[in-house]
Amino acid sequence: MLAVEKHYAVIGDPIQHSLSPGMHNAGYRSLGVDAEYSRFQVEARRLAGAVEGLRALGFSGWNVTLPHKESIIPLLDTLTPQAKRAGAVNTVKIHERQLIGHNTDGDGFVRSVEEDLKGFKGKKAVLLGAGGASKGIALALAEQGMQLHILNRTPEKAMELVQVIQHEGGRATSGTFAPGDWLEDADLLVQTTSVGLYNEPFPFSLAGISKQALVVDIIFNPIETIFLQEAKKLGCRTQNGIGMLLYQGALAWEFWLGGKAPVAEMRQALKNQLLQRTVYKG
Ligand SMILES: NC(=O)c1ccc[n+]([C@@H]2O[C@H](COP(=O)([O-])OP(=O)(O)OC[C@H]3O[C@@H](n4cnc5c(N)ncnc54)[C@H](OP(=O)(O)O)[C@@H]3O)[C@@H](O)[C@H]2O)c1
Repeated sequence: MLAVEKHYAVIGDPIQHSLSPGMHNAGYRSLGVDAEYSRFQVEARRLAGAVEGLRALGFSGWNVTLPHKESIIPLLDTLTPQAKRAGAVNTVKIHERQLIGHNTDGDGFVRSVEEDLKGFKGKKAVLLGAGGASKGIALALAEQGMQLHILNRTPEKAMELVQVIQHEGGRATSGTFAPGDWLEDADLLVQTTSVGLYNEPFPFSLAGISKQALVVDIIFNPIETIFLQEAKKLGCRTQNGIGMLLYQGALAWEFWLGGKAPVAEMRQALKNQLLQRTVYKG
């Protein structure tokens, strides 16, 4: 049925704003890979049918986004250690008729900060938020040997995440959503909540943060949240969420196709799409 050799996709609901097709297709074009990446809106109640359909249509693999990252697990044959660790799947590959569930979110984040951070072991990371994204990032950073401090609006959720990390052999504590000693100590501060998506300020000031800290907000639209603007004014190095999006995609590419993903071209495609959106929103 398919004119190109390999087909990939992202499934989720909603999905119309996904930047993944533009990023992956730009990568295929740059290396001359005979493949195409599409996006499909899949309602929760249709997930099993959609997975069967993708398999029947000869797709080689697909990405999975909200709300299917956990509910797809029973539909798969095996999970990689990364997917087991996160309890969530963002990448599926069909290999010898088997559906393999993988997760590249946490390791994608690690890759996005490793150059700026220059080593993880024994360093301190503070995570603001304890939702799905925070869990993936926290487990991957703990595996790299970082010591974590997790703050969340609902403290019980931060405590639960700390227990999961400790169960995996990592070091973590939880705290209240407020300034504290951690501001002077953090080597890495990651904003993982949805606060800032609508240009709203973060609920507390970062005054007192170490200038050595790398500050990341995993939101990528707006390109620079008020939280990141404040961190920059205080002299910190900053990164938005494009790096995490880029490297989770690059690791999915490498899981599917092998070799090295063309990250420079994929990054440029992400930036172009975001720029167009900003202009469009005017
Ligand atoms: N760059 C990337 O590749 C990437 C990947 C995944 C997600 N993200 C972004 O990450 C963010 C979170 O996604 P998620 O999947 O982790 O969502 P989630 O599982 O729903 O978790 C949301 C988190 O935000 C907190 N929160 C929400 N509203 C808040 C408020 N008004 N004040 C304080 N805390 C609040 C929640 O705290 P409670 O527990 O108290 O509710 C929770 O910790 C989103 O902005 C998403 O776009 C980016």
